[in-house]
Amino acid sequence: QKLEMELETIEKGGYDHFMIKEIFEQPRSIADSMRGRLRADDAHLQLGGLNDYLDKLAQSDRVVIVGCGTSWHAGLVAEYLFEELARINVEVEYASEFRYRNPVIKENDIVIAISQSGETADTLAAIELAKSKGATIFGVCNVVGSSIARATHAGAYTHAGPEIGVASTKAFTAQVTVLTLMAIALAKRKGTISEETYRQLLIELETIPAKVEKVFENAAKIKEIAFIFTYARNFIYLGRGFNFPVALEGALKLKEISYIHAEGYPAAEMKHGPIALIDEDMPVVFLATKDSSYEKIVSNIQEVKARKGRVIAIVTEGDTLIPGMVDFVIEVPDTHEILTPLVSVIPLQLLSYYIAVMRGRNVDQPRNLAKSVTVE
Ligand code: AGP
Repeated sequence: QKLEMELETIEKGGYDHFMIKEIFEQPRSIADSMRGRLRADDAHLQLGGLNDYLDKLAQSDRVVIVGCGTSWHAGLVAEYLFEELARINVEVEYASEFRYRNPVIKENDIVIAISQSGETADTLAAIELAKSKGATIFGVCNVVGSSIARATHAGAYTHAGPEIGVASTKAFTAQVTVLTLMAIALAKRKGTISEETYRQLLIELETIPAKVEKVFENAAKIKEIAFIFTYARNFIYLGRGFNFPVALEGALKLKEISYIHAEGYPAAEMKHGPIALIDEDMPVVFLATKDSSYEKIVSNIQEVKARKGRVIAIVTEGDTLIPGMVDFVIEVPDTHEILTPLVSVIPLQLLSYYIAVMRGRNVDQPRNLAKSVTVE
């Protein structure tokens, strides 16, 4: 017992929990998931596992993405990426729903299965179902040699390294990184992005690890905000476009480790119901980075402030408008719009971590949850 505890302390490498260690590992894990695949100086981008399937993917009419939880959120980011860059029709499905429907899957379809553990029962069953209908299955897994990795026709590992904390953090950013590489490679093959955009994206991708590192400079401030909201009973997370899946991910992170009820929504959906929840006791986290939906988000913030909601906004560095409107801001470095989730999710991971710690929760092993859900 004592030996086990000492081993765990060593594995945590000086951190209190695996989760915070894994959050801080992200500059490296994101770089690892690009290593050998991307080189911006000579515009090189290659995913070994994708080589034989890139033509098939380019000819295919649609891609179906399956996953659960955080992996499903990474799938939602991929939907925006693939549609925007490669102009391909994408559907993202909860593996658990997909497997028990009678989904229309044709031989030409490509299914991308996303899973950190590679052992999630629902995702595995969804793969088997799609396979039986003749689809080609591509896996995006973290654990090498896992059941899902073995069940797929081809794939790309995320190379995030072992993720021990039940709350997925570095696996999510690694999944998004790999899916971004796939979308760019596909777009290049299909000719749906210009050579200039292609090069710009590769250059920008290489700067992401440093930008994530920059977000960590706000850790003390995020801790203070966490302290203020430690005893909140509910939270709402709002985002649009590429930040919509990030809002869902932020809410999931908070509920699973702090046990605070949190909901993520596309910001524009607020007026269709959730706005009724807003009062001076409701913290609302806005993903409000400078992108194509910035103006719209600004008006959504005004709607919440008019109802006395308490707003925490994730903004782009140097934003001078939003800080004057909201209660708290957390800055993240500017990046290309399609890469935003890789930086904007970081403060949300930290916020949920600090709140959970302040509430005295078992951060790495929250109640009722398992790291991989191998049962239905
Ligand atoms: C994420 O923080 C959760 N613990 C959970 O939603 C997880 O992402 C889900 O169970 C899927 O796991 P997988 O990626 O290993 O398939």
